[in-house]
Amino acid sequence: SNRHFFVGGNWKCNGSKKSIRELADLVNGIQLEPNSGTQVVCAPPFPYLDFVRSLLKKEVGVAAQNCWIHGNGAYTGEVSVDMLLDLGVEWVILGHSERRHIPELHESDETIAQKTKRALDSGLGVILCIGELLQEREEGKTLDVCKRQLGAVAKVVKDWEKVVVAYEPVWAIGTGKVATPEQAQEVHAVVRKWFSETVSPQVADKIRIIYGGSVNGQNCNLLAGQKDIDGFLVGGASLKPEFANIVSSHS
Ligand code: G3H
Repeated sequence: SNRHFFVGGNWKCNGSKKSIRELADLVNGIQLEPNSGTQVVCAPPFPYLDFVRSLLKKEVGVAAQNCWIHGNGAYTGEVSVDMLLDLGVEWVILGHSERRHIPELHESDETIAQKTKRALDSGLGVILCIGELLQEREEGKTLDVCKRQLGAVAKVVKDWEKVVVAYEPVWAIGTGKVATPEQAQEVHAVVRKWFSETVSPQVADKIRIIYGGSVNGQNCNLLAGQKDIDGFLVGGASLKPEFANIVSSHS
């Protein structure tokens, strides 16, 4: 395809100034093939965004792991899109399953859609996460759940140019139980078809759909070989040297 491969490292709630300096060195050392077009983005916790932006080479993007739904103002404890832009952050991860499903957070489809709209309207790129719970898969609801999550966003977002969709089956996240290439490809193909029918064939053809859930240096190559898998959102393995192998899995 003509879609540039996209690899995000979601560092989640991990790191210290010391470990993050080491991780930035590691990421800076990854040789990006000059003509591959592969895009690499790292997502550190909020307090380290500025530090990480200053450490990483300019070819590597920086993402926040969340953002506030409104602008600046009397919203104690929140971080606005304007602040992220001010720091030189280019991306934000929204709709991650941990933010959807951890009981204390419990973000709804509508909240995620509104955050996505605000981020895009301000010029940030959005890594929009979707995916089903184990129970939903077992009940045969996988595709319905993904379409419902996307549909909420499609109600308020018209321009998908700066969106990367991350399909992350919740049962595969942090479990070591990676989706098979066939399982992932099946959902990615349906998501692309959904874009073709609901948004436009042009958007369907252009939008990157990346996979997340127990991706590592061993299983990345077969997944990357699937027609509709345009990259990865990596959790645990993004904190390790094997992140370099995942970035170069597209050959
Ligand atoms: O955002 C990343 C995903 O939640 C995957 O995490 O690679 O540790 O399974 P994981």
